[in-house]
Amino acid sequence: MPLRIIGKSPALYGLFQQLKAVMDSDVPVLLEGESGTGKELAARILHYQGGRKDKPFVAVNCAALPETLIEAELFGYEKGAFTGADRSKPGKFEVAHQGTIFLDEIGEMPLELQAKLLRVLQSGQMSRLGSNEIIEIDARIISATNRKLINEVAAHRFREDLYYRLAVFPITVPPLRERGQDIILLAEYFLREENLRGKKQARGFSEQAKASMLHYSWPGNIRELANVVKRAYLICPTEIIEHTDLLFGNLLPSSDPAQHPPSEAAPPPNAQPAAPALGGASLKTLKEIERETISERLQYFHGNVSRAAKSLGLTRATVYNKLR
Ligand SMILES: Nc1ncnc2c1ncn2[C@@H]1O[C@H](COP(=O)(O)OP(=O)(O)OP(=O)(O)O)[C@@H](O)[C@H]1O
Ligand SMILES: [Mg+2]
Repeated sequence: MPLRIIGKSPALYGLFQQLKAVMDSDVPVLLEGESGTGKELAARILHYQGGRKDKPFVAVNCAALPETLIEAELFGYEKGAFTGADRSKPGKFEVAHQGTIFLDEIGEMPLELQAKLLRVLQSGQMSRLGSNEIIEIDARIISATNRKLINEVAAHRFREDLYYRLAVFPITVPPLRERGQDIILLAEYFLREENLRGKKQARGFSEQAKASMLHYSWPGNIRELANVVKRAYLICPTEIIEHTDLLFGNLLPSSDPAQHPPSEAAPPPNAQPAAPALGGASLKTLKEIERETISERLQYFHGNVSRAAKSLGLTRATVYNKLR
C-alpha cells in the first residue's frame, strides 16, 4: 500500500504531530482506533520514515491464529518442539531484529500469552520453543487495537502491566467522520486510483454526492470509503458520480453490523424491493430490478461482495458483471 496519509483536517494534523513526536525514538507505541481508520498505515509510516527503515517491518496479527500458533509465530521453534515441527523456524521477533514488530489486534491476545510476552519484553530476551538458547531482542514494538484497551484492562481481559509496557505512547487514530473535508479528498484520491486501474474515466462527484458522503457516519472508516468509491465507479452511468451511485448505509437501524455481521443464512427482511405496482408510471426492466436487488444486498453486507453474491446464489464475477 502507498505510504501516504491523505488529509489535512485538524484531527489528522493532531495525528501527524503525535507520529512525528515518536518517529525517531524507540518508545513502544499503541495505536488505537476504529476498524479501517489507518492504524496499520500509521505503523508502517512510523517504521519506514523512522531510523529503522532499512531493517524489516514485521506484522503479526494476534487475532488470526490460535494461541499455540501465535506463540510459535512470535518466538519461533526448534525442530521437534511440538508435533508437526519438522524443521526449525525463527520467530517474528528474530525476523524483526533491529526493525519493527507490529502486534496487530493486540487486544485479542490470550491472557497466558500476554504473560509470556510481558516476561520477554521485561527481560529483553527470549528463546525459541524447544530451545534453551537465549536470544536478545532488538525490535521496536508498535501495537494496534480497535478496542479501548484500558477498558479491557478494567474488565480483566488485558493485563495492566502489559498495557503500560505497550502503551508508553498511546495514539488515537481518529474516525473518518471526525475528519470533515478529508472525506472528499480521500474519495477523490480513491476515484483517481479507479480511473488508473479501470477502463472508463469518472471525472468526479456531484455536489449532492459530496454532501451525502460528508453526512454519512462511516462505521468502516477509510476502508469502507474506498469500497463505496470502487462500487460507485463501477455502476455510475455517466462520468459524474451522483449520490444515487453511492451505496452506503445500514438497512437494519437497530443492529450494528460491525458488531454483529449478518449471516448469509438470514437474508435481510427488507432486502427485497417492494413489488412495483403493475401499470404504474415506471415499470422497471429486469436489469434495473437486478441492479437494485444487488445494490441493496451489497449495502446490507457492508460492501462485502462475496457474501452479497452468496446470499443471492451468484458468483462474485456475476455480481460485478451485473453491476457494470
Ligand atoms: N489517510 C489515509 N490516506 C490514504 N489511505 C488511507 C488513509 N487511511 C487509511 N488508508 C487506507 O485504508 C485502508 C485501511 O487502513 P488500515 O489497514 O491501516 O486500517 P486499520 O486501522 O489497520 O484497520 P483494521 O482495524 O480493520 O485492521 C488501507 O488500504 C490504507 O492504506
Ligand atoms: Mg489493521
